[in-house]
Amino acid sequence: MELAEVESIGKYVGQEVVLKGWIYNLRSSGKILFILLRDGTGTIQCIIEKSSVDEAVFEAGLELTQESSLEVHGTVREDTRAPGGYELNVSNLIVIHKAEKYPITPKEHGMPFLMDHRHLWLRSARQHAILRIRAGLVRFIRDFFDDRGFVNCDTPIFTPSACEGTTTLFETDYFGDTAYLTQSGQLYNEATAAAFRKVYCFGPTFRAEKSKTRRHLIEFWMVEPEVAFAELDDIMGLAEDFVVEIVGRSVERYRDLLENVLERDVSALERVQPPFPRISYDEAAAVLKEKGTGFEYGSDFGGTDETVLAENYDRPFFVHRFPAAVKAFYMEPDPENPALTLSVDCLAPEGYGEIIGGGQRIHDLDLLEKRIDEHGLPKKAFQWYLDLRRYGTVPHSGFGLGIERTLSYICGIKHVRETIPFPRLLNRLTP
Ligand code: 4AD
Ligand code: MG
Repeated sequence: MELAEVESIGKYVGQEVVLKGWIYNLRSSGKILFILLRDGTGTIQCIIEKSSVDEAVFEAGLELTQESSLEVHGTVREDTRAPGGYELNVSNLIVIHKAEKYPITPKEHGMPFLMDHRHLWLRSARQHAILRIRAGLVRFIRDFFDDRGFVNCDTPIFTPSACEGTTTLFETDYFGDTAYLTQSGQLYNEATAAAFRKVYCFGPTFRAEKSKTRRHLIEFWMVEPEVAFAELDDIMGLAEDFVVEIVGRSVERYRDLLENVLERDVSALERVQPPFPRISYDEAAAVLKEKGTGFEYGSDFGGTDETVLAENYDRPFFVHRFPAAVKAFYMEPDPENPALTLSVDCLAPEGYGEIIGGGQRIHDLDLLEKRIDEHGLPKKAFQWYLDLRRYGTVPHSGFGLGIERTLSYICGIKHVRETIPFPRLLNRLTP
């Protein structure tokens, strides 16, 4: 008898197989025991008739509890009425472990309780669906860049200096020196882009942000492409192709989970087609003024501003040319108005907010040195970065896409805490 997995159970119709898994749910009618078995790849209804198994086996089955682990032997049957389309007629059942009373029951639980039990909560259908789509999304992201000749060059987590401002740095002792956990791999990407032309890094990033919003994590994953010789419009075009492809492939591969488990309105994702609207920061500011969000020209957008701006669009859109004052030190000034920068954010529709931040980098040595001084950054730590402007400097651009915000948009999940297996939040370090 072959050890089968629920995901591919369809190829065993009429055959006897072994399944190993956990009890998601069980009920009995005296003569028949129904076990909804989850094996990690899916769930299947297992039917144990008193008349077709040993009496001791049936009795043992009646004693079982939610999340007990077991091995079942049985014949696969196609049944269009069954969830998933198949059922298992059980001939034998071997208990691996009878679970203690499981804390997460089908009744409603509060969010703090679920977050405290995140290590178990991951087993529930909804969380399982979100994290399976996450794994697919990561693959689609890598495929996009790998297929286009980008070289994956990962960047360090311990860094000697800030990339995205000094207020959100996590400091740690590095054998007597100070190191910071990376906020972005971008500065290193700029070095590898000068070596490989088109690169990307993909890893965890850290922001000591005292934000408790539904869009902020302390530790999140970011993919960051960087392209030598690319300018602002080139990178916007790349970001557009990228978002269209990763959203499109997610819908294609996970339509069933999105519609049936997460109840996502997939038609909203099907509208993610080029071209994405492109508006300038100045245009966006005018819209916000008219809509009266309390936005002040010259500041960065708040969550409400992003949601209000998105009301005008049915797909992701770009806001470009932010004032230098709200962006990082490395942003190339706009030649038409040096108070502005060649920066761009991509905002998701439906109130999911900013999913991409990026732009064109300063490639002139003198200007970059000036900016490092103006931002009060330690020039010594940036010597290697300045070297990139000393030896064959070229215009170059890139961006970063946050995995959790993008996944929350794709899945229709309001809070990013459900989009990463073990979220790190302002007030949460466990489990
Ligand atoms: O806009 P950010 O800060 O851009 C950078 O870090 C650039 N250095 C990237 C680059 O050009 N290579 O962050 C990029 C994206 C955001 O748009 C958002 O999706 C995500 O990273 N992000 C967060 N996600 C969750 N929690 C947080 N605290 C996040 N901060 C940023
Ligand atoms: Mg940003």
